[in-house]
Amino acid sequence: MDILTSVAPTQSLTASWRREGLRVGFVPTMGYLHAGHESLIRAAAAENDRVVVSIFVNPTQFGPNEDLEAYPRDWERDRGICRSLGVSLIFAPDAGEMYPGGFATKVGVRGLSEVLCGRSRPIHFDGVCLVCLKLFNVVGPDAAYFGLKDAQQYFVLARMVKDLNLNLTLRPCPIVREPDGLAMSSRNAYLSGPERKAALILSSALNKAREAAEGGEREASRLTGLVSEVVATEPLARLEYAQAVSTDDLSEVSEISGEVLVAAAVWVGKTRLIDNFILPPVGGAG
Ligand code: PAF
Repeated sequence: MDILTSVAPTQSLTASWRREGLRVGFVPTMGYLHAGHESLIRAAAAENDRVVVSIFVNPTQFGPNEDLEAYPRDWERDRGICRSLGVSLIFAPDAGEMYPGGFATKVGVRGLSEVLCGRSRPIHFDGVCLVCLKLFNVVGPDAAYFGLKDAQQYFVLARMVKDLNLNLTLRPCPIVREPDGLAMSSRNAYLSGPERKAALILSSALNKAREAAEGGEREASRLTGLVSEVVATEPLARLEYAQAVSTDDLSEVSEISGEVLVAAAVWVGKTRLIDNFILPPVGGAG
């Protein structure tokens, strides 16, 4: 397994693979890898000849009062996981390599970046788009793998890839959960014992809404109302939003028709957690 921290040798190595006709799969991460990342790496390994994982805690996607400095890091463990899963290359640049002096370019996807999490994190998705566009240009993958826990991130990036005619496929991958239902996230590491128990309210609330939808409830406000009601029963949790949006453009829907993303964000203490489910079109294959 190669480990590279600079752009130029990474571009040369992946270009040599492409010249040999090898397919390159890419898993962008901010490190502190968990079973969710492992499932992305496995999906990439199943569909490609080479897998590249990037590990970079991207400063441009953190707001001024967010957890950039505190973001959990464990380089040795991450390296071991990548090695054990047969990753060919870890690209682990520092901020100076990604954003050298004089860096001045912005990228953004209007509309889709401003709703859901974008309301409370106004610069977040512009930062994600910027770093992913750069990473795609450095790695040159045939396909890049993203977990659907961050569903908005996937839909924003899919829009960018389409709008900018980027020559790669984005693969959305299912949410991986702890045995009790909590969606895997590096930020779960911030939760104290009691907060970890309280955090379960998010997946329980979304499950309740999903069951109602599967039972025939078509009114979006009833589904999101159920999420707020359930979250309100947990004293350690505070709902930031629960919304039902179309997966086409992330615009809010009033009726469940077409493919709909039901997403929620909850604060448990100082930790912000997100989770969601996607309802297939009624009568659709799922
Ligand atoms: O999902 C993440 O870990 C990050 O947002 C990503 C895609 C690696 C960009 O920094």
